Amino acid sequence: MPVSPVDDPFDLSALNSALGGSRFAGNLHYSSSIDSTNTHAMKQADAGAPDGSVYFADRQNLGRGRGAHAWSSPPGSGLYVSVLLRPRIAPADILWLSLAAGLAVLDAVVAVTSLEPDLRWPNDLLFGPRKFCGILTELNAEVTRVRHAVIGIGINVHQQAFPVELRSIATSLFLETGRNWPRQELLLALLQAIDREVQVLTSSASASAATQSIRQRIERRSSWIRNKRVRVDEGDPFTGITDGLDARGFLQVRTPQGLRTVLSGGVREA
Ligand code: BTN
Repeated sequence: MPVSPVDDPFDLSALNSALGGSRFAGNLHYSSSIDSTNTHAMKQADAGAPDGSVYFADRQNLGRGRGAHAWSSPPGSGLYVSVLLRPRIAPADILWLSLAAGLAVLDAVVAVTSLEPDLRWPNDLLFGPRKFCGILTELNAEVTRVRHAVIGIGINVHQQAFPVELRSIATSLFLETGRNWPRQELLLALLQAIDREVQVLTSSASASAATQSIRQRIERRSSWIRNKRVRVDEGDPFTGITDGLDARGFLQVRTPQGLRTVLSGGVREA
């Protein structure tokens, strides 16, 4: 049932019951206002918070995006959530975890709104050319062991407009559908989907079986993984045609000079 942007509260006890049996039940932490749920989750992780701790807020004052960008996080407008995981996977497989989080958002959005967004490698969710969700995954690891990972997800839910300079590249679920989808339902569907993804990644008989499943699903649901002409804005920008993911989950791009691997993101349609 759609709700108005000014009245979209969370019900923690209902969330906790609905999440019973998952790693997140009893581990939910809500703040009306916070600097950044990711910053907070990383600090809590250092202090020993358990696997499955979830930090979410009505607003962030210093929301962070990838590549040191800011993430605009006005009150009552978006879903700002960070999930702390202590997965038993190799640090080299961490990109798969982040890619799986993108699939989890996709599933959650489909479950709640019935709209199927696109997934732009590595972690942006789009409707057409406009982004409504970004994911910032941060890591604390030894060379051979992940201590903890924090997956931070920002979803534009109720925004009715964006500043003129963002209008061609940003959107929200409200702008796409004309409806105010409840953040509570989105958060529940998201956490359920993340729980499933982490289960796949950490309990498959082999890591390669798990990454194979993620690869196949991303190839099916993202228009960006193959045959898309892209511009890659890394130190030395280049253009080419996307050509699948490598064994670690990095995007491959065919260029006149040969196959190149996109390391840092910043992929745009050329
Ligand atoms: C991006 O696309 O640049 C990633 C944006 C990630 C934003 C989320 S909002 C919740 C969490 N806390 C943060 O400070 N950032 C992430």
